[in-house]
Amino acid sequence: MAEVIKKIEDMKKKAGLLRARAQTVGFVPTMGALHEGHLSLIRRARAENDVLIVSIFVNPAQFDKGSDFRSYPRQFESDLAIASQEGVDVVFAPDGDEMYPAGHSNHVEVTGGLTKGLCGASRPGHFRGVATVVEKLFDIVRPDRAYFGRKDYQQAVIVKRLVRDFGFDIDVVVLPTVREPDGLAISSRNQNLSDNERQKALSIYRALARASELYDSGERDTKVIGREMRNILNEWGITRIDYISVVDPETLEDVEATRAGVVVAIAAWVGDTRLIDNMALGVGSERQLFLDKAHTV
Ligand code: PAJ
Repeated sequence: MAEVIKKIEDMKKKAGLLRARAQTVGFVPTMGALHEGHLSLIRRARAENDVLIVSIFVNPAQFDKGSDFRSYPRQFESDLAIASQEGVDVVFAPDGDEMYPAGHSNHVEVTGGLTKGLCGASRPGHFRGVATVVEKLFDIVRPDRAYFGRKDYQQAVIVKRLVRDFGFDIDVVVLPTVREPDGLAISSRNQNLSDNERQKALSIYRALARASELYDSGERDTKVIGREMRNILNEWGITRIDYISVVDPETLEDVEATRAGVVVAIAAWVGDTRLIDNMALGVGSERQLFLDKAHTV
């Protein structure tokens, strides 16, 4: 059974002990409701480190609306069982008051190009919340390696920047998106989709796969690729689109002409559920990898 730690002080003590024993610590931060996407990170971290710590904390600071925060799935007991089964050593599960004590006034502000576009534009304040909690978690856990999913591409880039900016001695490992067999990126939000919405949601993957196909057949004009993606979403009745972007994989700035490695990304609403997904173009063709049944691109 994984050890459950709820207090920051106890987690810090434990982390200190582990470091004193020169054990390598792998860390997977999550908001719980563990699914195959999380498990891919947990399994890799398990394989690469002596000790594995997973945090489960639904971080209020990164939600745009209180209602979204309140309705976020919480299933601690089954998460704990899954974590234990996967060989997780410690589950760090602080309460809200523990992470944000009354009067909490300091935040990590992410400035510049990395938050200008994509979810930074459509969810103001979101990455401030993410960066703040990740900075706190890194400071408490002090892992050697921290694992993030490519599914949240902008988040992974921002976390890498945070590690460089604050001089954390942490390797950030970014792993491929785990998908359902038909291509839909796995997300805890998929639980909210009706059967009909679940069908519609697949168009997000289809649009990205189409972009990848167009790229492979020689199309380089971002506008043409963007238009095709929008058409596919619209055909499936998805019209509330926060963005369809083609961005540089490092700066996250829009590019006009695509080249290998650029990232196409979509955020769109299926009913009341906001879904995001992305795919890199050209590099070892992520789409091909998926089609080859890896189910993870
Ligand atoms: P959460 O949405 O729980 O995701 C935790 C980690 O799992 C993130 O690194 C995310 O990118 C990864 N992940 C989610 N779905 C995935 C999929 N289908 N394939 C691969 N990886 C996937 O992201 C967060 O929590 C929070 O923002 C957090 C970093 C914990 C800060 O609060």
